[in-house]
Formats: sequence, structure tokens, C-alpha cells
Amino acid sequence: MDVEKIREEFPILSRKIYKRPLIYLDNTATSQTPREVVDAIVDSYTHTKANVHRGVHTLSMEATELVENSRRRVAEFIGGASEKEVIFTRGTTESINLVAASFGPLVLKPGSELILTVMEHHANIVPWQLLQSRIPFEIKVVPIREDGSLDLDVYRSLFNERTALVSVCHASNVLGTVNPVGDMIEFAHSQGVPVVIDGAQAAPHLRIDVKALDADFYAFSAHKMYGPSGIGVLYGKEEHLLRMPPYQGGGEMIENVSFEHTTFAELPFKFEAGTPDFVGIAAFAKAIDWMERTGIAEIAAHEHELLDYTTRRLIEEIPSIRIFGTAPGKCAIISFLIGHAHHYDTGMLLDKLGIAVRTGHHCAQPLMHALGIEGTVRASFAAYNTKDEAEDFILALKRVAAMLE
Ligand SMILES: Cc1ncc(COP(=O)(O)O)c(C=O)c1O
Repeated sequence: MDVEKIREEFPILSRKIYKRPLIYLDNTATSQTPREVVDAIVDSYTHTKANVHRGVHTLSMEATELVENSRRRVAEFIGGASEKEVIFTRGTTESINLVAASFGPLVLKPGSELILTVMEHHANIVPWQLLQSRIPFEIKVVPIREDGSLDLDVYRSLFNERTALVSVCHASNVLGTVNPVGDMIEFAHSQGVPVVIDGAQAAPHLRIDVKALDADFYAFSAHKMYGPSGIGVLYGKEEHLLRMPPYQGGGEMIENVSFEHTTFAELPFKFEAGTPDFVGIAAFAKAIDWMERTGIAEIAAHEHELLDYTTRRLIEEIPSIRIFGTAPGKCAIISFLIGHAHHYDTGMLLDKLGIAVRTGHHCAQPLMHALGIEGTVRASFAAYNTKDEAEDFILALKRVAAMLE
């Protein structure tokens, strides 16, 4: 993989922050976007902007074709799903809210149990709690081991006749842990329990095959995959989607409306109320093209090289560093604290040196409580990060550590 060539495709990487070249290590929050994806957005606004699925005129048909092509592209990308099983949403958060609001009540009854894990993002906790205010079910939580991997013995032991649903992240946005979701799904299915996967952190790094995983639902966001913001996907098995009620009402999701009775559109449109972000959806296909052309395995190998190198050097050279999440095969995410330094101070000082990292609880407060901390500094790598940047980050962090320790 020619990283220098890749970098040329990302205009934002030539920015300077405090007169220093930007080193962007906040890829877990959102990744940057290559020129061809930006161009696709500009092209849509310049040449094909028209509302989709409605018009008989040329522009509308072209815009519709772009959206439906993108749906086909996504279906193919996640392992040959049917296009009916690919619902466009605003992001992972909306995808999980959709499942919780629409599928949740079909399976979670008063007294039922939902299994989550302690490493979930709030997006995979709060939608279920909102549902709990309507249905009194219980939430059971799988803990983690020392290295940040899930305790699968506890996972299996949580199942009983009340267990109705499992919802788990494929990869943790804090620890980087990649959960063995294939095995977890297999076990849940052996108990007759469906599984929702929050794939927000896996889809940018791993080859996703929803069919091989046999996931009941799989959610992810385009903006973490070199794509536009405001677009997400919910994959759902057709058999579930068919019996789920619509999540939102409005245009596009209906077949016939009268004041007495409304019938709903076929899949996937039943779940796509209102005008979608047709510009972003079309551009998402370009981001997928970019990822596949660059090579998902190649990107992952490159990120892992940076992860291993940086982790080793940080442990060797900053004795007071504590790294949270050391599970084998984790994603290229380093969550850490230095001595007694506050994560916010570390992040602020790194910013002054041109380095963008994330600080705080990373929308995973229950995990922070379990780790006994308030937050971490998080550095994460993507395809365009270089070994020189890793080197600069290590040196900058040593300077910051010397100031704050
Ligand atoms: C594991 C995980 N789940 C869900 C989300 C929410 O994604 P979005 O904000 O794109 O809806 C994130 C975002 O950081 C995440 O890391």
C-alpha cells in the first residue's frame, strides 16, 4: 500500500494546525474523506440534484438510480445481502434506535432479558433504556476481562428462558477489542435468541459478511468509512424486517394513505420515511469503492503495523502510561492515560502540537465506570496515517508526559 499516494487523495491532510502539519489520529470518531467522495457530493449538487423515487423527469430518475446503485453496492459489500435488507439511516445510532423501537417490542416482553456488554457505546444502551420505559424488561451486562476482551463464560451463563435478545458491538470504540460475534451469534441462535450487531467500529476495518455471521441486524455509519456524514445502514434479515412495524411515518414509506387507513411500502422503503440524504447515499458508494480498491485487508494490516509499533514504543518510553485494551487482534485504537495527568490536558497539549486525538468517556460511560476512570485519551489509525506520524505522536506524547507527570 502506497501511503504517500493515498495521502494525496485526502485534501484535509495538508492542513496545518498551529503551523504544524495536521496529524489526524481521531479516526475512531470519524475518518477523513478522499477527493473522489467529495467530488461525488459536488457532482450530485452540480448535475443530478433532484428528489428521489418520485419524479418521472430525467434528473429524478438519475438521482434515484444513484441511490439504488448505492444500496446494491452496500448489499454486496456486506456479504451479499438482498437490497431489501439494506435500510439507509442517518447512522449507527439511528439504525439501533430503529431496531429497538420496531423489533424490540416484538421480542422483549415484560420480564424478558436483553443482553448487552459493558463495552457498549451509548448508542447501543440508551435506545434500549428508552424502550424499557414502555416495556419492563431487564438488561443483563457481559463484563470484560483484564485485557478488555469479553468474558464469554459469563456471556453464555446469562442465557435463560427469559433471554429475548442480544445486542453487542463488533468492535469497541474505546478498547479496540474485536468481539467474536460469529461465535456469540451462533450460541445465541442455539438458544433461539436473535442478535443485533453494532458494527460502527468494525465496518471501517474488517471485511463484513452478515450472511456468514448470520447476524439478525448489523448497523454501521458511512462517516467512519471514509464516507460522508449523516448516512448509515441498518442491515436486517428480511424475515424480521417483514414483520416489523415502520419506525417513522411520512413520505416514501407508504403505499396508500387515507385518513381512515394507511398501508406501507415494500422493503426497504417501509423504513425510509421522508426524503433521504440522496447526495450522501450516492457518495457512500464511492467511499466503498475507495475502500475496496485500496484493499480492506491491506488497510487493516497497515493500521496494525502502526498500532503495534506505537504501542510498543509508548510502553517502553513512557513508563507511567496505562493502556486500556490489550486484547489480541484489537483494532488500531490506543486508549490511554499518562500518570495522573487529566485526559483533557493531554489532548489539549497534543492539539497544540498539531495532533488530533479524542479525549473523554467516548460515549461509553458504563465502561469508564467499570475501568474506574473518568475518561481516556484515544489515538486511532486509518489508511492514511504514516510511521512518521506515529513517530511524531510518540515524541509529542513524551514531551506532554514530561510536562504533566
Ligand atoms: C461502537 C459505536 N457504536 C455507535 C456509534 C455511533 O455512531 P454514529 O454517531 O455514527 O451514529 C459509534 C460512534 O462513535 C461507535 O463507536
